[in-house]
Amino acid sequence: MNPNKALWEKGDFTRIATSMRESGEALVATLGITEGLEVLDLGCGDGTTAVPEARLGANVLGVDIARNLVQAGNARAQQLGLASCRFQEGDATDLHDLEDDRFDLVVSIFGAMFAPRPFDVAKEMVRVTRPGGRIVMGNWIPNDPTLVAQILKISAAYSPPPPEGFVSPMTWGVEENVIERFAAAGVSADSVSFDRDTYTFDFSAPPSVLVGEFRMYYGPTINAFDAAAANGREVELQAELEALFEGQNASGSEDVTSIPATYLRVTVAV
Ligand SMILES: C[S@@+](CC[C@H](N)C(=O)[O-])C[C@H]1O[C@@H](n2cnc3c(N)ncnc32)[C@H](O)[C@@H]1O
Repeated sequence: MNPNKALWEKGDFTRIATSMRESGEALVATLGITEGLEVLDLGCGDGTTAVPEARLGANVLGVDIARNLVQAGNARAQQLGLASCRFQEGDATDLHDLEDDRFDLVVSIFGAMFAPRPFDVAKEMVRVTRPGGRIVMGNWIPNDPTLVAQILKISAAYSPPPPEGFVSPMTWGVEENVIERFAAAGVSADSVSFDRDTYTFDFSAPPSVLVGEFRMYYGPTINAFDAAAANGREVELQAELEALFEGQNASGSEDVTSIPATYLRVTVAV
């Protein structure tokens, strides 16, 4: 089994995605989507950004490596009556069943960053984007003090070292790496631009309950708890994550969670 696929089919990412819908919709509103635009949403999950893209009139193909998330995305699109939004399985490192220059816009929000072989990923995103089209990525930033970078940093401290040659997904949050990867795919540095933006995790229960959701349903956190359990350190990991989530809760109430997280927004003119 492909470990990248196994990680994301573990648990149920849709449980986390429900806390990210509002920010997904707000981001999509800034993408300049017009009626009939051909959009690839890569690493789409269950459609946090794909669904609003289709609602704005785009023809959207969501591609994701996790079979359960593709099924969940198709179920959401069907339930919402969105015929212009469909989801299929695929790997960002090799989009062989998608032809060259097919899309006006490729969007990947915290998606393609999690695929291995980042140079292949950049090459594939460029290949399927038509000349004059755009790629927009949202990438978490390494060592950023906000939520997701800190979850991954804390988790890493409880996990065995990654295998030799492993490239951290967080390297997609470093501008020089992004420029280098797109340059290798034939895109000049002046066609790549960067912004810092915020995604907010909204949850209608206390931060400790959201930690519980990550522990039960978010593949990387499930793995971290498994590794911590092997060393008898589950309680310690739980306490560290609860302190993080509580410390970052900006809702003004202990009973409701609203945690802003900074990310790097990358725009590539192809
Ligand atoms: C943090 S989730 C984000 C999902 C979605 N973009 C969203 O905003 O809710 C990461 C997603 O990337 C997908 N993913 C990871 N590796 C992938 C790969 N190699 N190819 C395609 N999708 C991948 C996962 O299955 C998962 O749905």
